[in-house]
Amino acid sequence: MKAKVTVHEQFRKGKVDDRFFGSFVEYLGRSIYGGIYDPGHPTANAQGFRRDVMDVTRELRIPIIRYPGGNFVATYDWEDGIGPVEKRPARLDLAWKAVETNRVGLHEFAQWAQDVSAEILMTVNLGTRGVREALNLLEYCNHPGGSYWSDLRRKNGQEEPFNVRHWCLSNELDGVWQVGQKTAYEYGRLANETAKAMKLLDSSVKLCACGSSFRRMPTFLEWDQTVLDLCYDTIDYLSLHSYLRNAEKDPDTYLAESMDMEEMIDLTVKMCDCVKGRKKSPRTIDISFDEWNVWPRAKEDDRFIDPWRIAPPLLEETYTMEDAVAFGCMLNVLFRHADRVKIACLSMLVNVFGPLMTENGGALWKQTIFYPFSYASRYGRGDSLDVRLDSPGYQNKVYGHVPFVDVSAVYSEERKEVVFFAVNRSRAESVVLETNLSGFQKASMVEHVILDSKEPGTSNTKSAPNAVMPRTAAAARMEGAAARVSLPPLSWNMLRFSVSG
Ligand code: AHR
Repeated sequence: MKAKVTVHEQFRKGKVDDRFFGSFVEYLGRSIYGGIYDPGHPTANAQGFRRDVMDVTRELRIPIIRYPGGNFVATYDWEDGIGPVEKRPARLDLAWKAVETNRVGLHEFAQWAQDVSAEILMTVNLGTRGVREALNLLEYCNHPGGSYWSDLRRKNGQEEPFNVRHWCLSNELDGVWQVGQKTAYEYGRLANETAKAMKLLDSSVKLCACGSSFRRMPTFLEWDQTVLDLCYDTIDYLSLHSYLRNAEKDPDTYLAESMDMEEMIDLTVKMCDCVKGRKKSPRTIDISFDEWNVWPRAKEDDRFIDPWRIAPPLLEETYTMEDAVAFGCMLNVLFRHADRVKIACLSMLVNVFGPLMTENGGALWKQTIFYPFSYASRYGRGDSLDVRLDSPGYQNKVYGHVPFVDVSAVYSEERKEVVFFAVNRSRAESVVLETNLSGFQKASMVEHVILDSKEPGTSNTKSAPNAVMPRTAAAARMEGAAARVSLPPLSWNMLRFSVSG
């Protein structure tokens, strides 16, 4: 099979923001306890954080990490996580039916984030709390001193403000699964009042309001329209979330699910701009895609885990090669919308939907999805390019025509490189992809990295941590401004070209 993709230097869609390569850590399962924090681990630092996890987190160059939830935040009192650890209360976390010990709180997490060179995207609880508590937290984090909450922070050992710049105004409050679920009107009013007050306290903060939790919410777009109507002037971003499920255990549909995410972004951006137009506002609301990942199997088994345990192993996926391909399609969707998706958080970092997995007190290994994210974070910084793709495809009962090839491209003027991230959805056949760079002078191919496997179900596990690993194929020779590159069946690929503009 043959496909063709064309890019041009002048087809620049927008800069890929650094915050595009964010991630997410929630008090959920073994994301924190047993994941980033494990005081008994041989690599633990003085604060109890695993150095091996920190090293790989740094390797991923993650600039921003969403915290502390997620669904967790709706019954969280942030004050439980400050002050002497031995005095902190254990609380019931209603979102995950677990016990939260509060051993890791704001100060400890902020230190960890600083150690991995990431800023925090902080979520406030507007499920069971309100404007006052959000303001107190902001004052605690960002006010220099001379007030009750800022002085308490100093008393607790942090003289300088944490300077948290990015904030989520709660999480998925359209969801029936939330404690404190709200109608769009209730949420929009509360988010607006909270945003207004937070900006009075610190005008430099950037605020994300909850958009629709998922594309298939019955209130999709209606919720977004009402919320935008009510807080357009006070917020900066609308949060969206997407997890690709393999509900029907049908690979053809699963591998096409990213098309749903693409439509979700397209429609939401149109809704943001429609409200902008109606309000005659000079401001543009961009998207914070602050939870995204594939979620093909986990959860079914979780119901056998007893409630009210500390750090139970919830939502732990063992990702396959097929999952890495679906994941690569999601990354491509995000790159193709980098003009409006300014923040994105891979959900999550470790154990819970983790690109990284750890054993309590033991090994660490990288799942299949680690590799597309890692290469994207390393080579995907620059300007997103509009791609013109011509690909054969298959007919799917849900999505109609689905192209076998899915591709995104980034041009780095600084590195003088064009990088394609390309997926072949076909399980049976290779596709020869012609990459046409006629808009650039003197292109030459530098590298072809392939992630593939003989079996779509192959995973990396503790006993076989390198079962699916990237390999490098010979770079193709240029034929004029084009190169022909073979994408193996069910593979994720990075094609790197050096160019002069
Ligand atoms: O990532 C797990 C959960 O999925 C998050 O807590 C929630 O926001 C989403 O529904």
